[in-house]
Amino acid sequence: SATLVIAVDGTSGSGKSSTCRGVADRLGLAYLDTGAQFRAVTWWMLRAGVDVHDADAVAARAHEPRLVSGTDPLAPTIVVDGEDVSGPIRTDEVNAAVSPVAVVPAVRTRLLELQRSIIAGVLAEGRGIVVEGRDIGSVVWPDAPVKVYLTADPAARAARRSAEEGGSDVAATEQSLLARDAIDSGRTTAPLVRADGAVEIDTTPYTLEQVVSQVAALAAGAR
Ligand code: C5P
Repeated sequence: SATLVIAVDGTSGSGKSSTCRGVADRLGLAYLDTGAQFRAVTWWMLRAGVDVHDADAVAARAHEPRLVSGTDPLAPTIVVDGEDVSGPIRTDEVNAAVSPVAVVPAVRTRLLELQRSIIAGVLAEGRGIVVEGRDIGSVVWPDAPVKVYLTADPAARAARRSAEEGGSDVAATEQSLLARDAIDSGRTTAPLVRADGAVEIDTTPYTLEQVVSQVAALAAGAR
């Protein structure tokens, strides 16, 4: 698996995280959640009092937060300036602010460098990695031998996410997911797209285990 990068992109709530962690665990690969990095920068901006809708203000401070991403699929962590924010990055406040922050080119450039160095570091150790996000197969690692684009019916995505969140309002969750999709797909820099060569899987009718098996089979075919 010395060069195995599995790039998984897709819409919000399509099951990317669960799928990627399951695939990495099953195949013994590292795991990188790039969405957690954008969330961590957003959490930092909110705590610093930066207006997240002011792109210049966000860009001016984009290089300040120090991020450390854990790559264990069973216990992914994200640390900012020494603080583990794995929990605090999953709030409604961060959900609402993350896509506006992720539009800002200075944020993307900074995280792109970090993402590439993490992937290169894992590969240099002779291991493979599953990377999830919105622009992994298109921008971050276009040479990935396996690219997957996950989608699901919006109602199914909202129902799953709301169950994960302990029964949050399904309609509000669906609105939040769709609002992020619209910003993520519409932005100029590295928008959410199905990358060239990506295999699209609509996860609506499948269980998590079935989707994990489908992605693992693609990886087996690429070796
Ligand atoms: O994957 P997750 O839903 O945690 O990502 C949160 C947000 O981070 C996305 O809605 C998107 O705005 C941004 N993101 C991105 N590029 C990535 C990963 C996430 O713009 N590679």
